[in-house]
Amino acid sequence: MTTIHEIAPDLYRLSVWAPALNMQFNHFLIKDDEPMLYHTGTRMMFPDLKEAVARLIDLKKIRWIGFSHFEVDECGALNEWLQVAPKAQAVCSEVGALVNMSDFAIRPARGLSKAEVLSTGRYQYRFIPTPHLPHGWDAGVLFEETNKVLLCSDLFHHNGNVAALTTSDILGNVRDSMMAMQNTPLHSYMPYTNQTGQLLQELADLQPSTLATMHGSSFYGNCSQALKDLNVVMKEVLGGGEMPLQTRVNQTEIA
Ligand SMILES: [Fe+2]
Ligand SMILES: [Fe+2]
Repeated sequence: MTTIHEIAPDLYRLSVWAPALNMQFNHFLIKDDEPMLYHTGTRMMFPDLKEAVARLIDLKKIRWIGFSHFEVDECGALNEWLQVAPKAQAVCSEVGALVNMSDFAIRPARGLSKAEVLSTGRYQYRFIPTPHLPHGWDAGVLFEETNKVLLCSDLFHHNGNVAALTTSDILGNVRDSMMAMQNTPLHSYMPYTNQTGQLLQELADLQPSTLATMHGSSFYGNCSQALKDLNVVMKEVLGGGEMPLQTRVNQTEIA
C-alpha cells in the first residue's frame, strides 16, 4: 500500500512501508509541464507504485525518470516505467548514463554534468555530482531552485514508519539507524571518504529548505545545518576518512 503526501508545492511523496526491513521506500513525483518521477522503486513494488502514481497523473505524461545512483530501489523498475510512459527518459549523472544506463535502460538516458539544469517547466533542477555519497561513483543529487528542495536519495536514511514531513530534528534517528547497521552485513552502506565533508558542505551552501529523503521523513527547516550535522554524524559513526599523510608515513616506517 503506497501512501501519498504533497511535501512541497507540486512535489508528491509516495511512500512504501516495508515492515520486515523497518524502513520506508519513498518516491517523488513532480507535477509540472514535464512530470518527473524520482526513484523508480524495485520491480516488486512496481504494480502498487504504478497504481499510486496513476492517481496523480496520466502515466503516459511522465517525461523524466530520475535517480541518484544505480541500485534496485533507485532505478530497478526503470524499464517497466519506460514501457508505460513512452515519452519518458531516464535522467542521471553522466557517469551513470555511460556506465550503467547505456546497457541497462531500454532507451538512452540523459546524463547530467555538474551544475547542469534540468527544467520540468516551472521548476529547475540543478544537478550536483556526489561520487560515493551516499554510495556509487555514479551518485548525484538534484536541487530544485524555487522551493529549494534537495532530492537527497539515501542521505539522512532513518528507520521506522515515520511521518511524511517533519520540522523536528531527524539527526538523532539518522545516527541511531547508522549505528544499528554497524554490526550487520550492511555496515558498509555509506563510506566516509576524504571527499564527504566537502561534498556535504557544497550541498549545505545551496541552503535547501526541504530534504526529500528516500528512507524516512522528509525534513523542512534549516537543512544547511542538518547537512553540516550529517557530516559530523557520518564522520563519527563511519570513520574519520583518510589519516593525515604524516601519520600514514610514520605507520609505514614502523611497519
Ligand atoms: Fe542507495
Ligand atoms: Fe535507497
